[in-house]
Amino acid sequence: MSHLERLFELLAIPSISARPEHRADLLRAAQWLAQRLAELGFASRVDPTEGHPIVFAHRSGAPGAPRVLIYGHYDVQPPDPLELWRHPPFEPTLEGGRIYARGASDDKGQLYAHIAAIEELGQPSPELIFLIEGEEEISSPHLRGYLEAHREELAHDVLIISDGAMWAPGVPALTYGLRGLVYLEAEVQGAQSDLHSGVFGGAAPNPLQEMARLIALLKDERGKILIPGFYDRVRPLNPEERAQLQSLEVDPQAFARSIGASALPGEEGFGLLERLWARPTLDVHGIWGGYQGEGAKTVIPARGGFKFSMRLVPDQEPLEIAEQTEAYLKERLAPGYQLRLQRHGFGRPVLLNPKTQVFQKAVQALESAWGRAPVLTREGGSIPVVADFQELFQSQILLMGLGLPDDQLHAPNEKFELVNFEKGIQASRALLKSLLV
Ligand code: BES
Ligand code: MN
Ligand code: MN
Repeated sequence: MSHLERLFELLAIPSISARPEHRADLLRAAQWLAQRLAELGFASRVDPTEGHPIVFAHRSGAPGAPRVLIYGHYDVQPPDPLELWRHPPFEPTLEGGRIYARGASDDKGQLYAHIAAIEELGQPSPELIFLIEGEEEISSPHLRGYLEAHREELAHDVLIISDGAMWAPGVPALTYGLRGLVYLEAEVQGAQSDLHSGVFGGAAPNPLQEMARLIALLKDERGKILIPGFYDRVRPLNPEERAQLQSLEVDPQAFARSIGASALPGEEGFGLLERLWARPTLDVHGIWGGYQGEGAKTVIPARGGFKFSMRLVPDQEPLEIAEQTEAYLKERLAPGYQLRLQRHGFGRPVLLNPKTQVFQKAVQALESAWGRAPVLTREGGSIPVVADFQELFQSQILLMGLGLPDDQLHAPNEKFELVNFEKGIQASRALLKSLLV
């Protein structure tokens, strides 16, 4: 069976971590991976957690070889809206050199590139450990505890993660920074029940308008976040990094076109890459409440809600940011309303040292596959476990994304380019080999 056929088997399993009805599919994906790794000589297990299971696998290496841990996730985001997919999301399809499926790029395809590389590499190899979780897309609620409980088994010298993006088609990237995340939900209640807007309008509280007012208090018209203390710990770019970002020269107009937008509102006074990689943000993800049906309904809704998150940069602390945000909203809430707040997930930001020897080996491995040196990038996205790894193990971390910015992560028609799968396998193989010496 070819690497691609095997990857298609994994992609066909709808391992959607956010959906309880897919519990058995998550287990099936974990078992599939454990089985595949067992076939490659690993001692592998599917370890239960209170949520979805974790795949752990270990294979001894050449005497004196370093211990290399490869992390990935087998869970995927929900595929809806289904009607926008060109092919059903769990019927992987190769079309025009692209693998279309939910999870193709995030993260099954990128993860499988390493498994395929190990199959090709054979022996001698470094000592290898796989840690593959099924809850990344729901912010890894059980992973930290697992890392702490299995600290010895998981001890390693080098950590490799492919769960991000290259710089551009044909141009690989090595990533040395990730943003963190605080995800919150607010519910605003006015009266006990929905009310006739003629009979009660003018006297009754309207939670949707109060919500709109609160949301508007979060950011000013220049894109600055107004929560007191929010920017206190933001570490500015040092001159060297600023120069590096400037050398990458992204044309804001081309970027706007690439996402089909006519302008790029954002924090004033910062360059595009700085805004995407090194500045914190706040975005509303959903607003609910009130009458959504056809025609008119004269009602004052009793409640509404909104979900929002903040992307964090070093040295912001998720817990501190959550507390500041909650306090700000509570203080500003007008009389007549109740506010309920929920926390949905935290992740700390990460900054790595790109000047180590292992980093240099990764540069060479990527160069050997793509025929050109990788661009040094930061990413705006978050992989919360990286900060935990950093704290618990003093290992060298390599973030080598194999996807592309237009892979449609979390969106309809997610795809992974076949050429990046193949070159990813080559690069991983070269890297593992170079780590032996
Ligand atoms: N693989 C992504 C994160 C990512 C995407 C990193 C693109 C770099 C480039 C990951 O699966 C993801 O979606 N993370 C979530 C984290 C959240 C659910 C805690 C995110 O960034 O929204
Ligand atoms: Mn991912
Ligand atoms: Mn994701």
